[in-house]
Amino acid sequence: DKGNHRHFMEKEIHEQPEVISHTLAHYLDFAGGSWRPLDMPFDFAKLDRLTISACGTAYLAGLIGKYWFERLARLPVDIDIASEFRYRDIPLAKGAAALFVSQSGETADTLASLRYCRKAGISVASVVNVRESTMARESDVVFPTFAGPEIGVASTKAFTCQLAVIASLAARAAAARGTITREEEKALIRQLCDAPRLAGQALELQRHIEKVAHELAQVRHVLYLGRDTNYPLAMEGALKLKEVSYIHAEGYAAGELKHGPIALIDETMPVIVVAPHNRVFEKTVSNMQEVAARGGKIILITDGKGAAQASVKAFETIVLPDTPDLIAPIVYALPLQMLAYFTAVFMGTDVDQPRNLAKSVTVE
Ligand code: M6R
Repeated sequence: DKGNHRHFMEKEIHEQPEVISHTLAHYLDFAGGSWRPLDMPFDFAKLDRLTISACGTAYLAGLIGKYWFERLARLPVDIDIASEFRYRDIPLAKGAAALFVSQSGETADTLASLRYCRKAGISVASVVNVRESTMARESDVVFPTFAGPEIGVASTKAFTCQLAVIASLAARAAAARGTITREEEKALIRQLCDAPRLAGQALELQRHIEKVAHELAQVRHVLYLGRDTNYPLAMEGALKLKEVSYIHAEGYAAGELKHGPIALIDETMPVIVVAPHNRVFEKTVSNMQEVAARGGKIILITDGKGAAQASVKAFETIVLPDTPDLIAPIVYALPLQMLAYFTAVFMGTDVDQPRNLAKSVTVE
């Protein structure tokens, strides 16, 4: 049931504050500001490496996880898309554990990668939304998301719930490995608890985003740029747009711009820059200057400080609430989803069932 929404995708975008909260409540005691006990087949403190594999949007959630595990927990992460992972004959060290991310828990390539790791004798964990799925059954431990059934083929709420789980695992790993202080740990828990509220505030930008989407619906190509965790998020924004609106979109690391894609920039090319005011903000601003100098139309997604300090004239600036670094990818996912959604609505595509796509890819 779509309730009073036009499409499941719209409904699922709007459910996010609630389902993120529901998901986090499994891992965190909001009131006590502490972790809930987890049944773990491996000890984060003793791991040498974490290997992550998944497909599509779930892979991009894993890629954001790599930044978190490495930065917070000093835990090296290897990550690959499952269709490559399964055939690469990867040597897996005994001190490694594997983490798989899948909404459905049935994706053929991800499942094959999981089985590869099992055979190699390392611990297998999975972040899945469907508790009765094959991946859940075949894992040593399941870290569930509580997104509820996701009907729209384009993943929205499952993605942000995956991020919520992975962020809390990374913070937990950091605490276990002693790479953060007790105070820092408490601060991370507080930040996670704040994610549902900030996601709710992001939804309030709907009107403005609809206006920007109206512009996007006129073009054939869009470039998305970001650095750090906003690089995978830029790829997710691009994936969402191409899936539902059929507009060609690419997500790039902002620093790669001058290594090729800058050749595409002209007055007809919208460039969506995902750049909260963080440690790499100034670097991203210099990439925006490169775009602006070539007449590219910049659509900047940032916070108040970023909007004030971006010394570049953007065509549109979408301003999100101040968001702690850890949960920024969760909150910034929402305007990207809404942008894709409204663009598709303007284009008149079949938003919930885009052509050529299936919700669950159970063949390779
Ligand atoms: O069920 P899974 O999470 O394993 O699915 C993985 C991908 O097929 C999925 O994320 C796909 O990329 C979505 N259509 C993205 O919106």
